[in-house]
Order: sequence, then structure tokens, then C-alpha cells
Amino acid sequence: MNVLILGSGGREHAFAWKIAKSSLCKKLLIAPGNAGTEQIGRNIDISITDFQKIKDLCLKEEINMLIVGPEGPLVNGIYDFFHEDEKLQHITVIGPSKKGAQLEGSKEFSKEFMMKYGIPTAAYQSFTKDTLEEGYQFLETLSPPYVLKADGLAAGKGVLIPETLEEAKTSLKEMLADAKFGDASNKVVIEEHLKGMELSVFVLTDGISYKILPSAKDYKRIGEGDSGLNTGGMGAVSPVPFADRFFIEKVEREIIIPTIKGLVEEDIDYKGFIFIGLMVENGNPKVIEYNVRMGDPETEVVIPRIKSDLLNLFRGIGNGSFSEVDFNISEEVATTVMLVSGGYPGSYEKGKEMTGFNEVEDSVIFHAGTKNSNDRILTNGGRVLAITSFGNNIDEALNKSFTNAEKINFEGKYYRKDIGFDL
Ligand code: AMP
Ligand code: GLY
Repeated sequence: MNVLILGSGGREHAFAWKIAKSSLCKKLLIAPGNAGTEQIGRNIDISITDFQKIKDLCLKEEINMLIVGPEGPLVNGIYDFFHEDEKLQHITVIGPSKKGAQLEGSKEFSKEFMMKYGIPTAAYQSFTKDTLEEGYQFLETLSPPYVLKADGLAAGKGVLIPETLEEAKTSLKEMLADAKFGDASNKVVIEEHLKGMELSVFVLTDGISYKILPSAKDYKRIGEGDSGLNTGGMGAVSPVPFADRFFIEKVEREIIIPTIKGLVEEDIDYKGFIFIGLMVENGNPKVIEYNVRMGDPETEVVIPRIKSDLLNLFRGIGNGSFSEVDFNISEEVATTVMLVSGGYPGSYEKGKEMTGFNEVEDSVIFHAGTKNSNDRILTNGGRVLAITSFGNNIDEALNKSFTNAEKINFEGKYYRKDIGFDL
């Protein structure tokens, strides 16, 4: 098969790494990719939002399988674009239809979906500019902290959790009346604040049957002890120790089965990943959010634990044999530690030369924000590398990731030394 992966982060490098191992893979392209994907496939410098260029590339390179990493193209309808084009229809697209992508693209849509199918989630109401006063009144009925979510995509920044009523009201006004997140905050969902432990469960589905992938927990804050600003994710661990078989069975019963049932009943074409963000209190899971893609850095610990051929699973999604395809998960623990540029998630410099790759032992390095310049690997983003390791337990795997994190050098390098501290 000829495969094209869209995206340029650690997630896409992890997909490429796994797919390159498949005997079914003939040609592997990544658009636009990074310095890591370039070592195992061919990078193509086109934008992931330029569907026409993606089409031209697919035809020229005789692509049979398109794997969409980030949510942007999915929410913009890349699945439908392929599905409706006679020349592209034969290509399997891994990712949901535009309607399915609304589970991530609209918080209100996803809340309504959960309510309709009895999926446990935080109580909520949504508001617009015209109902700002009602929004203030609703806030007054809640106790702090308050959870305000921009309805649309806001580059992962659309959730605010103010501590006081006054701040909550100010934020609500800024979002609705002053377009704090542009059109994404034309509508705001206000939610009950949930307490407990967060983790994520991932599902791969053809829209009818599904396979439950390993669970993972990521560490979003920049500072140790989960302090400071939110980032895309500073590290991850899989599996999550408290997510034992009984817990996952509960998630399957209460969340996964009703979610798939909802997709079927709503006639939503969904061939891809469902990333279910959960909050767990006293063993009871509630959905914080759906994402319609894999997480980053969660992919860097989830995908390496899948023993089966991922491309074969994707092929099954395309040809209707998914429910019968072999699917096995490794018992080993995987951890990943992100190296980031100094200053991230605020402003940071790019173009710093990275060295030490040859000294790394017993870890897999997934590139995130990197680029190759005349055989020198330069930083090219906030999150730069994810160092993934395996072990019989979390400590064993983390020790390898931390040891190798020390061996890679670049000006301004930073990483959290406490990934997994709470497990
Ligand atoms: P998101 O950007 O949607 O991933 O949300 C960012 C973070 O906000 C989540 O990972 C949670 O930690 C937190 N969050 C979102 N909704 C709630 C909620 N209802 N209660 C508590 N925390 C929440
Ligand atoms: N690591 C969180 C995400 O990918 O959304």
C-alpha cells in the first residue's frame, strides 16, 4: 500500500514509525513531516489544509491510504472531500467525516450527543452573545472553579477555568462579546467542574465495530507538580495503573458502546480514532471531551504498545474486515518525555542545532518540532522531541527516558523531570 500521513508532530512520526514496519507498506509519504519522518519516509512540503494539493499528490503518487493526524483537516471535511470525489473515493481515509469531527469541532454538539446517548459527562448549558445575562445567572448557580469552553476549535486554548465568579463573568463576556477566541467563542459552554483523576482512552473504529487501544495519561502543564501554563503535553504514560480491566470494562459499557451506538443512529460515517478524555472520581468515569484524532504525546506511548500491524488494522477499516483483524497489545509499560524549547509555551526561538542522537540507547526518539538543514537537525517548534521508552513498570521506563533526555543537547532545552509523579 502507498500511504500518506498528514501532519508534522510526534504523533505523525509515531504513526510513520509503526507503519514503516508493516510488510504491507510500499511507499510512505508524510506531509509536511519533520526531520524524524524524513528518516523513514519521504516528506512532502504541502499544507495540510490545501485539499486540492493533497488530491494532486494522492493521484500522482497512487496513494491508497490517507492517515489524518490533526483535527483541523477533519473538521474542515477532508474525509467528505475524498469520499465525494470519484477519483479519490477508492482511497481509505483514516479519520471521521465532517459531521463526526463535530465531536471535537463543537463542544455544544458533543455535549448534546452525550446527553442524547446517556453518556456520563459534566452538567452544562451553552450561551451566545444574546444570552450573556442568562450566562451570568447560570454562573451564579455554580460553585467555583468555573469551566468555560469556547464551542469551536481554539488551538487547544479554548478552555478557561477561572477561580472566582467575577473572573468567570469577565471571561464569559470576553469570549462572547469581545470574540476572545474569534468565531470559536461565538458560543460558550459553561460546565460543572469535575474533580478526580484524568486519563484518556482511545478507540479505533470503522463506525460499527471498535478496538480499545491502550489507555494513557498526559501531563499538560509546563511546570513540575502540574504547575504553570498549559502546553500541548509534556509527557505521557501508558497504561494508566488505575485503569485496570474492570475499569476499562466500565468505560466500554458506559461510554464506548453508547458512543458507537450514537454514531450509528446519527448516521455518522466514522472511520478513525476516538480520543475520550475522562475524569474519574470514586471509580466513576465522566467524559471531559472527545477528540477525533489521536493525542500528542499520547500516541508516542499508545502506538508503540500495539503489537499488531497498524496498517493491517487500517486496511480492515477500508475493506470491511476490521472486526476480524488481529489486535494485540504489549504488556510492557511505555513512557515518553518531551524535550521543549526554552520559553515554551510562551515565545521561544527556533533553529537551535541538536546533538547527541547517537548516544541514545534503549529509547525511541520521536521528532515533533524539528527540521533537517544540510544534515543538521534543528529545533523547529515548541515541543521538539518525545523520548519513548519501555519497561516492566513506570519507573523502569521513565529512567530510560530521563537518561536519554540528558544525552540530547540544544540551547534552551527543557523537560519535566516528574512525568508520572502522581501514579
Ligand atoms: P481541553 O482543552 O478540552 O483538553 O481541556 C483542557 C483541560 O481542562 C482538560 O484536560 C481538563 O483538565 C480541564 N477540564 C475541562 N473540562 C473540565 C471539567 N468539566 N471539570 C474539570 N476540569 C475540566
Ligand atoms: N495531549 C492532548 C491532546 O493531544 O489533545
